[in-house]
Amino acid sequence: MSDTLQTEPFIGGAFPRVEGPYKLTGLARYTSDHDFEGMLYAVPVCATIANGRLRALHTEAAAAMPGVHMVYTRDNIGRFYRVAADAGAKVDETRPPFEDDVIRYYGQYVALVVADTYEQAVAAAAAVRAEYDASAPDVSMRLAPDDPPKVEDERGDAAAEFARAQIRLDRTYTTPIETHNPIELHASVALYDGQSFTLYETTQAIQNHKRAMAQMLGVPEDRVRVVTEHLGSGFGGKLWPWPHALLAAAAARNLRRPVKLVVDRRMMFHNVGHRANTQQRVRLSARPDGRLTSLQHDYLYHVAQAEFMKENCGEATPYLYSTPNLRVTSGSARRHLAPNTSMRGPGAVPGLFALESAMDELAIQLGIDPVELRLRNEPGIDESENVPFSSRHMRECLQQGAEVFGWGRRDPRVGSMRRADGAVLGWGMASCSWMAKRQPAEVSVQLNADGTARVATGSQDIGTGTYTVVAQMAAQACGLPLDRIQVVLGDTTLPPGPLSGGSMATGSLVPAVLAAAREATRHAIDCALRAPGSRFAGAKAEELAFSAGRIHRRGEPPSSGEPFERFLQAERISHVTGHGRSDSSDADPDAGKYSIHSYGAHFVEVAWEPAIARLRVERVVTFIDAGKVINLRTGRNQIEGAVVMGIGMAMFEQTHYDARNGAPVNGNLADYLVATHADAPPIDVHFIDAPDTKLNELGARGIGEIGLAGFAAAVTAAVHHATGVRVRDLPVRIEDLL
Ligand code: MOS
Repeated sequence: MSDTLQTEPFIGGAFPRVEGPYKLTGLARYTSDHDFEGMLYAVPVCATIANGRLRALHTEAAAAMPGVHMVYTRDNIGRFYRVAADAGAKVDETRPPFEDDVIRYYGQYVALVVADTYEQAVAAAAAVRAEYDASAPDVSMRLAPDDPPKVEDERGDAAAEFARAQIRLDRTYTTPIETHNPIELHASVALYDGQSFTLYETTQAIQNHKRAMAQMLGVPEDRVRVVTEHLGSGFGGKLWPWPHALLAAAAARNLRRPVKLVVDRRMMFHNVGHRANTQQRVRLSARPDGRLTSLQHDYLYHVAQAEFMKENCGEATPYLYSTPNLRVTSGSARRHLAPNTSMRGPGAVPGLFALESAMDELAIQLGIDPVELRLRNEPGIDESENVPFSSRHMRECLQQGAEVFGWGRRDPRVGSMRRADGAVLGWGMASCSWMAKRQPAEVSVQLNADGTARVATGSQDIGTGTYTVVAQMAAQACGLPLDRIQVVLGDTTLPPGPLSGGSMATGSLVPAVLAAAREATRHAIDCALRAPGSRFAGAKAEELAFSAGRIHRRGEPPSSGEPFERFLQAERISHVTGHGRSDSSDADPDAGKYSIHSYGAHFVEVAWEPAIARLRVERVVTFIDAGKVINLRTGRNQIEGAVVMGIGMAMFEQTHYDARNGAPVNGNLADYLVATHADAPPIDVHFIDAPDTKLNELGARGIGEIGLAGFAAAVTAAVHHATGVRVRDLPVRIEDLL
């Protein structure tokens, strides 16, 4: 085995997803596909007020309906517990279901019906009657902070500089509540054998799910197994357990029967999180040449009544641009809404809508090209942490993106560019950034006597390509073709792997997979030294190498040696195993010495047809610097998906609530608009592909939310260029443009 890893041919190729055929043929099992003998179906009953008390619940009629086994309320479901502060487990809703009779949001679970069939459970749930003492809910989207805002980041004296500056911009931007709409519904299939739980879950974090469920069910962690073989995405809504998972587990325990609970699309709008709405004031001051002299970003977001989830809109603000004076503050306001949670690019995505919109407005005010304005404010170091960047190629993203898009042909005058058919074209752009970190990871790599390898880690694939990139890493380290590598994920009985969130899974898995593969190959070499009749008998381990799946003398080509499996067969060994383990990047010896982030630039063309009031995104060029790209196909696919979601964020997505009862008004996929294929234009994705070896040996930072960050600002900039209308409150509505 060579001492430095050559990255060809498995790293950086455009490999199709290894699990693709399973998904295409229906063999892949998603959580709700799991069926068991004697399984019952659970359907929750949701509160129809958003603020008040549950006075009485009438369950008799429901309990008497056909097929109904049980109607659970807080009187008979048994005990749930809260998660201890130091348990290393996170839940979105810390209040266990049914804990008290206070209703804090519309849809809050008040009862659970368990029946033989799903239809029976749905019918009986509808027959449960609740009486409430209702008060008016506050679901207002105009925010004023409940407490004095908190200073998140500060350097210099931004307020003083702003006060004396000649060139200033002061704007407020808002982003609405958005609801995660993965096509796979949240679901739990819970089994209890009298001692232990096996929980099939829709979770982006099986390890956390196990710890949280053990805490809330009051059982030791080793009595909870969580399985998630495939996910139909999650967008952050499936990061932490929600109350339905506990209800399903409790019902399985009480009834000693497998219980399936699927959260329906309507409940998806009020029981499993959303992105907080935000209100953000950005104040900029600049010199006539465009150099920023101060930046103030004051953001507000809503939170639920009894929970606190920060929407960190200032995430990227402190390090994105060079400025001597900066101040970022945050504040929150409680509303009668379900707990908000992470949604793709939490914090930075709404935050960059505001900051990048303000930069575009400043560019126009100064008469400087918006790409040029960003280049002039490109920092040399992270001025917030006062440390160098590990690897930052923002300049290349801006310049190459402009080149490929044809930005030089842009006439900056509003409404000046027309298509042959008369549509007004608008060209806009924005920068983006997202964090990069590693989570702890453990991996085992098993080399089998049949010449295959098995890679196992208790992480999960949310649909982004984790099975595939893990196979590629192991293939690279062992020199085995991809079709001889089996990847096993999604089970807490495996060595604990990272969560699938924050674009961190890939980068986290690199060191552990490589270490495990190397240890496995060392064991195979030991085998070659010992095997009866081995041609390497008497050699020393360090004289041998493992490459291209073969064991051979160091310095000689792999073809001179023999396939590793021959030695295992000779030794009558079924497999040798290597274990790899890596820690969080926060534990690296040089943690904090570098600012590690991903970067990018989006270029967008919109077409506005005033005669028929139609606005479309027609063309997108996106340049992304996310370190080394392990798989061009899945990587590009991540950015394409994020861009489509960005079109939704810019033009469609917004959850509306009824001021009378706090109910989501457009809580279904007909009324809550997401961008569809028909809304998606050609999307030209490019990667800078520069390895960031401060994060891991391959230099892969992970790809996901970066493609959504900043995108909506590029759209509204393009809309302004076409129409002269600056939309500061997302989404862009047709009536804004008329
Ligand atoms: Mo992402 S919001 O970390 O799934």
